[in-house]
Amino acid sequence: GTTLAASAAERGRYFGTAVAANKLSDATYVGILNREFDMVTPENEMKWDATEPSQNTFTFGNADRIVASAQANGQRVRGHALAWHSQQPGWVQNLSGSALRSAMVNHITRVASYYRGKIYAWDVVNEAFADGGSGGRRDSNLQRTGNDWIEVAFRTARAADPGAKLCYNDYNTDGQNAKSNAVYAMVSDFKARGVPIDCVGFQSHFNAQSPVPADYQANLQRFADLGVDVQITELDIEGSGTAQADNYARVVRACLAVSRCTGITVWGIRDSDSWRASGTPLLFDAAGNKKPAYTATLNAL
Ligand code: XIL
Repeated sequence: GTTLAASAAERGRYFGTAVAANKLSDATYVGILNREFDMVTPENEMKWDATEPSQNTFTFGNADRIVASAQANGQRVRGHALAWHSQQPGWVQNLSGSALRSAMVNHITRVASYYRGKIYAWDVVNEAFADGGSGGRRDSNLQRTGNDWIEVAFRTARAADPGAKLCYNDYNTDGQNAKSNAVYAMVSDFKARGVPIDCVGFQSHFNAQSPVPADYQANLQRFADLGVDVQITELDIEGSGTAQADNYARVVRACLAVSRCTGITVWGIRDSDSWRASGTPLLFDAAGNKKPAYTATLNAL
C-alpha cells in the first residue's frame, strides 16, 4: 500500500492516530488524517472531565465531532478512557467511597451507552497499576473505593455497549517487568473468572529513558496467549533520523509478529501535535512532511 492504513490493512491490521477536535479545521492536519489513518482515538474529548463536567450533565459535542468525522471518512474509533485517575472533573476529585463508586458506574453507563455501536474498542480502565517494582495498584481515589473497581468498570461497560471490545490500557507495561506482570495476573484472573475483557492496550511512549524494550514482542505475545487482543495504543518515540526510524520499524514488526496484535495507534500526527512538551516523536514534521520514521513504518508494514 501507499498509505499507513492501506498497508496495515493488507496485513489485517488498522493504523490509527489520536485526534484533537480543535484541529479538525486545520486543512493540513485533516488531509493527512484522512489519507493515512483508518482508526481514530479522541485525544481528550471522551475523558471524564470533557464528558461529564458537572455530575449527571453530559457534554459530547467535541467527541461527537471526532466520531462524525471518522464515520464520514470510513475510520473506526477507539474510545478513551472511561475510568482513569487523571483528567477527572473537580466534582469527581471531591468524591470518595460509595458515592464515587456510584458516580463511576453512572459515568461508564452513560458514556458507553451514548456511543453504543459506534466504538471499536473502549479503554475501559486506564493506568490503574503502580510504577516501579511493587506490582501493586496505583493509589487513586478510584482504587480507594475497593480493589474490585476495575472489574466493576468492565462489567458496567459490557452491559452498556455489548459490541465494543473492552481494553485495559497502561504505560511502562510494554516489556516484561513488575508492572506488566501485575497487569498480566489481573487479565489472567479476569479470564479465569469470566470478567469481560477483550484486549490490552500498550501505550508505548518511548524515549531514551524508556526505549523500545528488547522483549516487546514476547510481552505482547504472552498477553495474547491469555486469549485477549493486544493493541499499541499511544505510540510515540523520541528521537530523529535513522535511529527513530529503526525504532518505529521494530514496533511495527513486533505487532505484525503477534497474530492477535490488531493494530497500532500513534499519539498524534505531526511533531507539533504531540502532547510532549518538546521533541519530535511522531511520523510527520510540523509542516506535515513525511519523516524517515514514516517511511520506515510504511516499509515495515
Ligand atoms: C494526554 C493528551 O495527549 C494531552 O493533550 C493531555 O493534556 C494529557 O493527556 N496517557 C494517556 C493519554 O492515556 O490520555 C494521555 O493523553 C497521554 C498519556
